[in-house]
Amino acid sequence: MKMGIEYHMKQEKDFGKHLMDWYQNHKRDLPWREKKDPYSIWVSEIMLQQTRVEAVREPYKRFLEAFPDVETLAMAKEEEVHKLWEGLGYYRRATNLWKGAQMVCERWKGNVPSKKKDLSLIPGIGEYTSGAIASIAFGERVSAVDGNMVRIFSRLDRSPIYGQGEKGKRILGERIFHLMEKLEDHPGDFNEALMDLGATICLPQGPECEDCPVTDHCEALAHGEVSSYPPKIQKKKRKKEKWTVLHIHWDGKILIEKRGATGLLAGLYQYPNVEGHWKKERVENYVRSLGMVPAHIEKIKKVGHIFTHVEWDMWVYEIHVRRGAEELLFVSEEDLTHKYSIPTAFQKTRKERKS
Ligand code: ADE
Repeated sequence: MKMGIEYHMKQEKDFGKHLMDWYQNHKRDLPWREKKDPYSIWVSEIMLQQTRVEAVREPYKRFLEAFPDVETLAMAKEEEVHKLWEGLGYYRRATNLWKGAQMVCERWKGNVPSKKKDLSLIPGIGEYTSGAIASIAFGERVSAVDGNMVRIFSRLDRSPIYGQGEKGKRILGERIFHLMEKLEDHPGDFNEALMDLGATICLPQGPECEDCPVTDHCEALAHGEVSSYPPKIQKKKRKKEKWTVLHIHWDGKILIEKRGATGLLAGLYQYPNVEGHWKKERVENYVRSLGMVPAHIEKIKKVGHIFTHVEWDMWVYEIHVRRGAEELLFVSEEDLTHKYSIPTAFQKTRKERKS
């Protein structure tokens, strides 16, 4: 078999052609692909960082209607931005996007920078996202290595190396850059073609190799080992935490409070809560200690919520008080819906059925 440099160059060129032909016919119809506007692509890439494509479609449209350009976003209040981020979670992304818009206005006169190295200076934009925006919005020949690409290339090359931390990703970035050099197509299309291949064909479980456009290039398939790549890495166990959440009602309103400025869900609103699983008497004393007089207290349900590194097991109490306290933030349902951002974990405590 001929395996010289020319053979490899042809292989690489063929790979690009097979992938791009497939992409032309199978490209997913996604709202952020309708125009190559750098700001909307930036918004989409931030939303997609930790959220599935399907869950991003609606919030993306809503967000761009409210903040159609960098200036509008930069001038908004942080709380308005959080409100429009509801359902997406990881609110720090919203804060960074908002701060990033201010930075773009101040430093680049409202023009999103076109180079990966400048984009990397913006809060919330790291190695992957800077590559995605620079290539998709501006055609810069740079890679955007995410978990999908690690999986695809681990299989193609039958190699465990790409999954080995930052070093692995750097090596993969160079491998992809090399492939791009041979390519006449738009670098952003090449990256998005790989994203679609990872999302629809080269799936983590049950890859659909029969529909894959690059099977000729896949070493793992040739060895019948697709499901062994990338090798599994033992994940750290999530910490489990117990909480007691209080829905305190007074005068047709419910009590909320602002979370601290740092840590998980920083700066968002929540129902008052205490660590641990509390019995009714302890809850009653606690409510009295806040200056209120409880009339009725009932434990109504248990709710779980999973974050990336921690899992909450919440007991929820429904409490009606005879006397509230003026200095506390009791809000109407109307304001709760339209004004304050309550993260999903706490929204669940009111929406889910009793258990
Ligand atoms: N995931 C992250 N960015 C994406 C994009 N531009 N298209 C599809 N999936 C993505």
